[in-house]
Amino acid sequence: MCGIVGGVSKRNVLPILLEGLKRLEYRGYDSAGVAFRNNKKVSLVKTQGRVADLESQLDGSLKSLQGIAHTRWATHGVPSTKNAHPQDSGNSIFVVHNGIIENHENLRKKLTKEGFKFKSDTDTEVISHLVNLYKTKGYDFDSAVMRTIAELKGAYALGIIDLDNPDLVIGAREHSPLVVGEGIEENFIASDVMALSQVTNKFKFLQDGQIALIGSDKIQIMSKNGTAKKIPTQEIDSNSFTNDLAGYSHFMEKEIFEQPKALQDALQGRVTSEGTQEGIFGAGFEDQVKDVTNIQIVACGTSFHAGRIFEFWSHKFLGVNCRVDYGSEYQYQEPIKTDKTLLVTISQSGETADTLSSLKFAKKTGKPVTLTICNVANSSMCRESDFSLLTNAGPEIGVASTKAFVTQLACLNLLLLTMMQLKKQPKKAIQNISSSLLQLPKKINKTFDMLKVYKDVAKLLFNKNSALFLGRGMYFPIAREGALKLKEISYIHAEAYPAGELKHGPLALIDKDMPVLALVPDNEHLDKIQSNIQEVAARKGRVITIGPLGKTKIGKNGGHIKIPKTLDLHNPIISVVPMQLISYYTALLKGTDVDKPRNLAKSVTVE
Ligand code: G6P
Repeated sequence: MCGIVGGVSKRNVLPILLEGLKRLEYRGYDSAGVAFRNNKKVSLVKTQGRVADLESQLDGSLKSLQGIAHTRWATHGVPSTKNAHPQDSGNSIFVVHNGIIENHENLRKKLTKEGFKFKSDTDTEVISHLVNLYKTKGYDFDSAVMRTIAELKGAYALGIIDLDNPDLVIGAREHSPLVVGEGIEENFIASDVMALSQVTNKFKFLQDGQIALIGSDKIQIMSKNGTAKKIPTQEIDSNSFTNDLAGYSHFMEKEIFEQPKALQDALQGRVTSEGTQEGIFGAGFEDQVKDVTNIQIVACGTSFHAGRIFEFWSHKFLGVNCRVDYGSEYQYQEPIKTDKTLLVTISQSGETADTLSSLKFAKKTGKPVTLTICNVANSSMCRESDFSLLTNAGPEIGVASTKAFVTQLACLNLLLLTMMQLKKQPKKAIQNISSSLLQLPKKINKTFDMLKVYKDVAKLLFNKNSALFLGRGMYFPIAREGALKLKEISYIHAEAYPAGELKHGPLALIDKDMPVLALVPDNEHLDKIQSNIQEVAARKGRVITIGPLGKTKIGKNGGHIKIPKTLDLHNPIISVVPMQLISYYTALLKGTDVDKPRNLAKSVTVE
């Protein structure tokens, strides 16, 4: 989704801004732009395309001490040069914006009456004109920004510069992340720490409603009403923010192969073969959750599928009611009020707008204990929650989530074990699950022995228009995750169904051109799912099965992939890896942009 980087320095900031934009590319975008001080004026360069196109339009000898830059993921107005940011007003006020201004139509009317002419279809342009309006009325730049912000409804992270203020960038945030990066004789703003990790490891994380005035020698933070605010500077290990492919062709490929190590990092120091360590979710967590009677999970996309698997674990091993809602839907359901609810938000980024607003909504409408399982320390969700557990997957750059998912499941398993311990469940059961969990990195590594098999399956899929994924019980969310991976990166329509629902509709779709991927567990569902597979085969459907039994064999009409066997509750985690790789190799055959699939964004910061 959109990305912001801006700064003022005593040295040339243009290469820093461009590098920042490159580091933000992984979020997904369709156009890019930069506004920078160029002697006595501010120059604006924008492109509907990649950051590399933007760079090629800039004269390499240009030097600038102040600028703001942006990658845009279209919301209001099609992807185009005119709609790309920065948006300017009268060549004097320049604005980059992440988020959506909900009252932009009213503001547009008001500004049109004031004589402003709109050049774009964006909601953002009202911001540059409003600041300009207040400046022409005699307000200083910072006061004009504050008056503007008072009129905005919606979500925003902003970076603003003014022709009359060469040593100032103003940043502001409301429901969309923005950080301040501290340097020596230079300071920056960005929507993501990663954008600035090449220049600093010192960050201030702005809170909603805060404004930052950034000069090369100053950082001043204020609330919306102008009260000075102090926020601590945090040192972040910038080495962990690498965007190096390390010899792989794509980040998604690299991240799939990083999964054993990511899992180890997620488990390290948190669990032994006897169970989980106390305090891993934060001091006092055990005390707060020991008597919860209800677990509510909220998440989006891949993270939602992780939540759906925990739902099965919770019912089976804890006997605690667990419900999972999409972040975008949670607020429309009347939340079930129970005495003691644990609200778990699951998110790779910790910034997904729908999940974040659900968390805020839940806190406003009830008194849940809140826990975030997240890959990004200091993210909005971590800060908004009572407790958090980092997945420790390392930065995930590929838009299609892979290692974040398996580490989310590992962390949810730690939650399960912790709650089993609190409920004084038999030691043996806790030891079994803990030992099996610790074996997972090794078992996932084994799935990499069959790359040729996944490539053969990809050959069966890449020229098809649709595919069906089947699973039962806790394998159904995995089927959904498999279908999501395939559609995200190969653009093949893929649907997942609980296998028992096959005969209630999808069976009508089955023919030789509709490949079916079925998850076949070694549990009480085995016979039933085999019957479902027969139903497909009898209609000339091509079936590829994945499971811990049988032998691996793929022919031109389908076949079977044997995965390493483990405890039934952990098999879903292993079975997702072949599906990730099958999707990846299918996308390669189709020649799609694997890491930046069309229309998608890594971090969705608008509702
Ligand atoms: C986007 C990403 C998905 C991700 C989802 C939720 O759609 O492309 O990969 O699963 O957002 O993101 P989160 O950061 O909250 O896990």
